[in-house]
Amino acid sequence: PPPSSVKELTNSTSLGSVPPQYAIRNPETTMDIEPIIEEEIPTVDFSLLTEGTPEQRSQVVRHLGKACEEWGCFMVVNHGIPERLMEAMLISLKEFFDQTEEEKGEYTGKHVMDPIRCGTSFNLTVEDVRYWRDYLKVFVHPIFYSPAKPPRFRLFRLWASWLRETSKEYAESTRAMGMELLRGIWESLGLEEDDMTKALDLHSCFQILVCNIYPPCPQPELAIGLPAHSDHGLLTILLQNGVSGLQVKRRGSWVRVEPLPNSFLVNTGDHMEIVSNGRYKSVLHRAEVNSQSTRLSIASVVAPSLDTIVEPASQLVSDEHPMMFRGMRYGEYVEHQQANRLKTKSAMDPVR
Ligand code: SIN
Ligand code: FE2
Repeated sequence: PPPSSVKELTNSTSLGSVPPQYAIRNPETTMDIEPIIEEEIPTVDFSLLTEGTPEQRSQVVRHLGKACEEWGCFMVVNHGIPERLMEAMLISLKEFFDQTEEEKGEYTGKHVMDPIRCGTSFNLTVEDVRYWRDYLKVFVHPIFYSPAKPPRFRLFRLWASWLRETSKEYAESTRAMGMELLRGIWESLGLEEDDMTKALDLHSCFQILVCNIYPPCPQPELAIGLPAHSDHGLLTILLQNGVSGLQVKRRGSWVRVEPLPNSFLVNTGDHMEIVSNGRYKSVLHRAEVNSQSTRLSIASVVAPSLDTIVEPASQLVSDEHPMMFRGMRYGEYVEHQQANRLKTKSAMDPVR
């Protein structure tokens, strides 16, 4: 049988300590080597990007560029995505994880490219320590998938259709937001929108929802939700249930992200670093756990189409700025990242 989820582990017993397989042993995952500091993350007013005056728009574009260059992440407010949709997403996700192990077991994917995959930790086949996190990953573009069950579960069917409608609307609106942010970011790099959209085949962009649950942990200092890593896509748009836990790395220190109400945290992924030829680096981030509350997060990852071979934009390559990455098919990159340990930026090694 597949190893039990963290949810199951914390449901079944009143756990007084972290089981040994979750306990952090090696320094690369230890939470306390580098300092944790308080600093304010840049905030982007999305409405000015779409509805502002030309002056306001260029100001936001500059601000976006600066946030990508100096932080690799920013908080998005006034995004226009209805709050009820964000809440519905979190509620339906909670219900998904509340199912029995047997019910969720239907989605225990065998292959990293399975369009619906549920599991625990990151990749149990290669890890020597387990992460305090269960996940559900669903491909939502160019083909939209959603968990559904056989018709004999009548009530479940109602719920599954609600989840389907909710996540479809959610995927579409976060994808539209991602595209608008990408337009602003290309502009900040001096790139034409059409060139990038064609080069990355964004009309068939790959989009995945990565849903995470981090149940309360009896010894949060001994376990980790997710270790330091970067994301594979262009941008990740993160919704959180108001419980903090995300940290981003900046200039050798970790910064705690305190989610503002009704906001998204957006971060740059490896393919932003690759297309921008290293100008906008993907940001390292990790998730810590706590002993009090369950943390939920939903990452909407917007990425090039799986068949595109992604290279640095030719406009950003010169004698002064030689090409920093070799081209690789995006789908191959994803498979490589998912089949290995989640570890800093090691997924980028093959393209360096
Ligand atoms: C992730 O890095 O994919 C999730 C981070 C989080 O849960 O905040
Ligand atoms: Fe991530």
